[in-house]
Amino acid sequence: MQDVKTYISEHRERMIQELIEILKIPSVSADPAFSQDVFHMADAIKKSLETAGCDLVEICETAGFPIIYAEKTIDPTLPTILVYGHYDVQPPDPIDLWSSPPFEPVIKTTELHPDGAIFARGACDDKGQMYMHVKAVAYMISTGQLPCNVKFMIEGEEEVGSKNLAGFVKNNQEKLANDIILISDTGMIANDIPSVTTGLRGLSYVEVEVTGPNRDLHSGLYGGAVANPINILSKMIASLHDENNRITIPGFYDRVAELSQTEREAMAAAPFDLEAYKKALDIDAVYGEAGYTTNERNAIRPTLDVNGIWGGYTGEGAKTVIASKAYAKISMRLVPDQDWETITELFKSHFEKIAPKGVKVTVTPHHGGQGYVTPIDTIGYQAAEKAYETTFGKKPVPQRGGGSIPIVSLFEQELKSKTILMGFGLDSDAIHSPNEHFGIWNYLKGIETIPYFYQYFTEMSS
Ligand code: BES
Ligand code: MN
Ligand code: MN
Repeated sequence: MQDVKTYISEHRERMIQELIEILKIPSVSADPAFSQDVFHMADAIKKSLETAGCDLVEICETAGFPIIYAEKTIDPTLPTILVYGHYDVQPPDPIDLWSSPPFEPVIKTTELHPDGAIFARGACDDKGQMYMHVKAVAYMISTGQLPCNVKFMIEGEEEVGSKNLAGFVKNNQEKLANDIILISDTGMIANDIPSVTTGLRGLSYVEVEVTGPNRDLHSGLYGGAVANPINILSKMIASLHDENNRITIPGFYDRVAELSQTEREAMAAAPFDLEAYKKALDIDAVYGEAGYTTNERNAIRPTLDVNGIWGGYTGEGAKTVIASKAYAKISMRLVPDQDWETITELFKSHFEKIAPKGVKVTVTPHHGGQGYVTPIDTIGYQAAEKAYETTFGKKPVPQRGGGSIPIVSLFEQELKSKTILMGFGLDSDAIHSPNEHFGIWNYLKGIETIPYFYQYFTEMSS
């Protein structure tokens, strides 16, 4: 891989331009209005894998959006790396808050990205990071340096819960057989503090509906005499945390794996600047479960958050009304060894139980998944560590992440292999937010680092 740096500098503009082209396709999986674009995006990924030199590239249709499968086998006796990524993106809303249109990528410099960053929905999550793998494999194949076999599985439904991927994985175990799964869909601490994500949180996502009277009522004629669903929902939600910001659902913490003092100390040793964190978010204080640090709260502790709440009159001016219904979308981030289906049940029965007389409550589960922890005493982790050491000049910090990629635990269950999470984005890259971006330096650093993972993993496997 001696020439990877030269290769990148020679192909820099082309590799940036190709990413810009796929960022123009609005592959929003959540909104049916974009459905054509999601299919169009699948075709673009298929083409890019063919161009990269894979021998077999397939569009695998599902009940939803297709999964792109590709492979390049150089020798069946060598190890096989399975790359997973997703080509769908989050909705761009609220569009008004973007400084440039979400699907018209532009390069701008920022404080953390002095070499420029590409601003577009999906730039970091996950098109830019997924595409680093396509480009890294293209480099290895074209220079005759691919040291092992590679398979790609790129899906288009990650942001909506990977509904069809689970079945695909279960039905294609042989096709997907691998020695290690490699994913770039997380972040790292800073450009000069590389890190490898060693954990993901699980997720349980539910929607609740509180129904009071059978129609909207005049808030003067009826106010005070009937339950107002919005008032009730607010009270119910408020009661889900106690004064220590612990979740009050009975049994919620029963299966939470507690970290040892040594593990907590190791976590606390990772570089973290609380003042910079607060400043970046414009907040005067952090907030969360008593007894835990900020990094513990967002990685090794479970949470419950309202993601959206609505009901009643929200238009211009005032309307005096007691709404018939109130709604909320609630997510719970889970940690090992919580089981997402059990937690969903616990939530449902608790929420129904705390509803006062005078309202009806329904809880509808959306999707979920288990958390994941990667051990660091494996050759997969060690190969990643050595790859970062080669290209960053220092060892990466192992770091538990707060986000979720629910399908990762299923990979382990069905394919019996571990996942290495080599993320190159920064938390400040605004994934899922307006003005999402991905540093050009990060994009190219990923392309540079990935081939070393292949090389070291192959060497260490033999
Ligand atoms: N790439 C993210 C997950 C992520 C981001 C993990 C940063 C760690 C660090 C992924 O695309 C995502 O957004 N996952 C969703 C869950 C999914 C079921 C919609 C999430 O975490 O909210
Ligand atoms: Mn993602
Ligand atoms: Mn995402």
